[in-house]
Amino acid sequence: MTFSATLFEGRRAIVMGGTSGIGAGTALRLAELGANVLAVGLQAAGKHAPVHDRIRCIELDVTDGPALQAVLSKEISIDVLVNCAGISRDRAEYELDVFQHVLDVNLTSIMRACSLAVPALIHARGCIVNVASMFSTFGSADRPAYAASKGGVVQLTKSLAQSYAAAKVRVNAVAPGWITTPLSEGLARDEEASRRIMDRTPLGHWGQPADVADAIVFLCSPAAGYITGVTLPVDGGYLTV
Ligand code: NAI
Repeated sequence: MTFSATLFEGRRAIVMGGTSGIGAGTALRLAELGANVLAVGLQAAGKHAPVHDRIRCIELDVTDGPALQAVLSKEISIDVLVNCAGISRDRAEYELDVFQHVLDVNLTSIMRACSLAVPALIHARGCIVNVASMFSTFGSADRPAYAASKGGVVQLTKSLAQSYAAAKVRVNAVAPGWITTPLSEGLARDEEASRRIMDRTPLGHWGQPADVADAIVFLCSPAAGYITGVTLPVDGGYLTV
């Protein structure tokens, strides 16, 4: 870790999808740097949930607007909001109800969380980081809703960056490459698919949740004070090939 250990001391951070994988890694990193973190997601007491004195995990479905409102309306001041909840349903996404559900979790929930959190973010002059994907750039015949949602995350990030800029709330995104998490387990186990990915990844290995967490921390830090509306790839160079 290359950040000052007190970078987020006394700060409030909320991580949607903070109960597993990249979100859990981000919650942990923010807590290690002094933030008080609320990690929101499914299986909040599950084996992938982050454990730290400064992290509280709560079980909440991000598609449940009233439940989200009840949680976020209690927050007076939010320094960091990370929107990391995400799912993929592969070819089942060709069924319209599945397509809509994936859009709701991966994209609409970000709009929902940002709209509910923005008064508290303005209070803190805080910032938002959304989690996009390589499929923000590429289409995917096997995941049409996932790719559409992640393309939308990039555009929503730009729109909210413009909208919130006057209130000094920055909005950025990260686009992780291939990261070892429960979501990508199946792909990682598929030797042929994994080899194809690594052949095209200049750094030659899968990323870890901490790699993405550190990029998110940078975007939330004062060092990124003049950066808003960008999507930062964290992909070992995958997009350069
Ligand atoms: P994960 O499955 O380990 O974590 C997903 C998180 O989202 C969990 O905390 C889960 O509880 C939460 N979540 C899912 N549906 C929810 C709902 N309805 N309500 C509340 N929370 C919900 O997966 P991973 O890999 O950590 O994914 C996190 C984000 O990173 C996702 O947005 C994913 O699309 C994105 N991503 C992951 C990549 C990878 O290689 N693992 C690559 C690119 C993007």
